[in-house]
Amino acid sequence: MSRGLFITFEGIDGAGKSSHIALLADALRSAGREVVLTREPGGTPLAEKLRELLLHEPMDALTEVLLAFAARRDHLRQVIGPALAKGQVVLCDRFTDATFAYQGAGRGFDGEILSYMELLVQSGIGLNGDLMLNPDVTLWFDLSPMVAAARLADARAPDRFESEPLAFFSRVAQGYADRAAQAPQRIARIDAALEREQVAAQVLAAVAARGWLGAGPHG
Ligand code: TYD
Repeated sequence: MSRGLFITFEGIDGAGKSSHIALLADALRSAGREVVLTREPGGTPLAEKLRELLLHEPMDALTEVLLAFAARRDHLRQVIGPALAKGQVVLCDRFTDATFAYQGAGRGFDGEILSYMELLVQSGIGLNGDLMLNPDVTLWFDLSPMVAAARLADARAPDRFESEPLAFFSRVAQGYADRAAQAPQRIARIDAALEREQVAAQVLAAVAARGWLGAGPHG
């Protein structure tokens, strides 16, 4: 059986990716795909515990990096790897680009160390001849930090990241833009400032352009 698809969703807090993940899941299921919805940090009992710590306990940037990658390793081994091996589509709310954007650009953590950890953590999952496993496509919800902050203002009690000042999110947004420039084939920019229907159309178009929504021989 062919390997499934690994699709990740990224963007600064308030960019509005959540509802679009559900819409894409519906579209993929209608096209006959089996879909697994998951998130990072999280997606397994262990990784959800690490998420709780990362989002709410004070810690330095290195500790954030270690927890994010520890959660990712468990998630890859328990959920993402097995689902892809079964030919399923994995839709994951955030992945390693978030570590580069938040811990790298946002906190100023060394990018070379992040690249090394990315290679270490995403290899040996039992797919890809055990080379580094990367998303097949990443939908990057690009929104100005000012607009995102206004959208977040009415949200529930902010976590450690959501309570960061605008300057932090400007760095994170730049981190995503830099990452997208380095991997233009993988990272598809979604203009998250548009109306909801237009954003949904861009998401579907990015996936359809890769031939993953059609009812072709490989469905
Ligand atoms: P988020 O995905 O926005 O979930 P919710 O919609 O429930 O708030 O929250 C996860 C937070 O964790 C987000 O602020 C980004 C941060 N994060 C990192 O700092 N590093 C990482 O590697 C990941 C995956 C997330």
